[in-house]
Amino acid sequence: MKQMLALVVLCLAVACPVLAAQQPALPTGYATSWKKSARKVVTDKNSLFYGVHYLYADAKAMQGYRAANSFPEGSRIIVEHFNLKADNPAVDGPKNMVVLMKKDKRQQATGGWLYAGYTAQGKPSGLDPVSTCFECHRNKVAHRDYVFSSLADFK
Ligand code: HEC
Repeated sequence: MKQMLALVVLCLAVACPVLAAQQPALPTGYATSWKKSARKVVTDKNSLFYGVHYLYADAKAMQGYRAANSFPEGSRIIVEHFNLKADNPAVDGPKNMVVLMKKDKRQQATGGWLYAGYTAQGKPSGLDPVSTCFECHRNKVAHRDYVFSSLADFK
């Protein structure tokens, strides 16, 4: 009970991931059972994606990529970001964040996709999906079902 109370107090004090009902837990097992992209390196320090990243797509998302980016309900795509080691770009540095998109028709404000960010340890980071995520995806790739990557990334 004491622990519960502590949690509630903590939740009131900070944006609480436990109460952020919109943000699901990071799917387990994606690293071993989903389709993985090649290693993608961004060396432009001004880019949000400066570093190394890998895309992971579940079976439904792969259907969507094959249909030229028209994704069925429930499709899930994850990106894992790692730091870039300045002294050895061939080696991944520590993981720094994970992001998820899940096709969910209830998410009308964000184009029918749920957007969620996680820490390197997979804990919800409670970022606002509209201002932190959707605006960029909408501005650049609304015509591709809001998804930047394509089937070519998984070959
Ligand atoms: C400034 C623009 C920008 C912002 C902000 C942004 N993204 Fe992205 N996102 C991209 C780009 C560019 C890619 C493509 C990366 C690649 O092709 O390797 C991408 C890829 C993704 C993907 C893989 C599917 C795809 O579109 O290729 C997911 C999942 C994703 N982002 C989730 C998020 C989440 C969640 C947030 C907010 C926490 C976010 N993004 C914020 C630009 C952005």
